[in-house]
Amino acid sequence: MAFAIVVNGRSHSVDVDGDTPLLWVLRDVLGMTGTKFGCGMALCGACTVHIDGIATRSCITTIDSIGTSQIKTIEAIGATPAGSQIQKAWLEHEVVQCGYCQSGQIMSAAALLAGKPHPTDADIDEAMSGNICRCGTYVRIREAIKIAAQTNAKGG
Ligand code: FES
Ligand code: FES
Repeated sequence: MAFAIVVNGRSHSVDVDGDTPLLWVLRDVLGMTGTKFGCGMALCGACTVHIDGIATRSCITTIDSIGTSQIKTIEAIGATPAGSQIQKAWLEHEVVQCGYCQSGQIMSAAALLAGKPHPTDADIDEAMSGNICRCGTYVRIREAIKIAAQTNAKGG
C-alpha cells in the first residue's frame, strides 16, 4: 500500500505494508541511513527521529501511524537552530567515540533544547535516559548539551 510521508520537508510516496516500522522505510526505501538500528524494541534510542518535533523511536513507529505528521531525521537536524547548536557543541566537546548511537543522541538532545532552551540537569537526565551508549560518552553528552544551552543564553 502506498503511504505519503513528509521527511525533512520533502514529500515521499512509499509502497510498503502498513505495519512496516518507519526506521526501515527511512533506511531501506529512502536510503537515509543516518538513523540507526540498535535493538528494535524502543530500548536503546539509536533509531530516534522527530515526529512533529517530538523525539520518537522509529523502530516501533509503524508507517500507517504517521499520517500527515512531519518527520525530521539526523540528515536535516543541523538546519534547525537547536540541532545546529547541539551539533556544534558535540564537535567542540568531542563527544563521539564509535559514533553508532550518536545520531539518536543528537536527535534526543535537539528535541530537548528546542522545547527547553535552558534545561536543568534533571531535564537532561529525563530526556536522554532512553539513549544508550556502549562507549559510555554520557558525561561528554551532558556537558555538550550544557554548552549548547549556554549558546542560547548568549543569544546565539
Ligand atoms: S532501535 Fe529503536 S530504540 Fe533501539
Ligand atoms: S559512541 Fe559508541 S555507542 Fe555511543
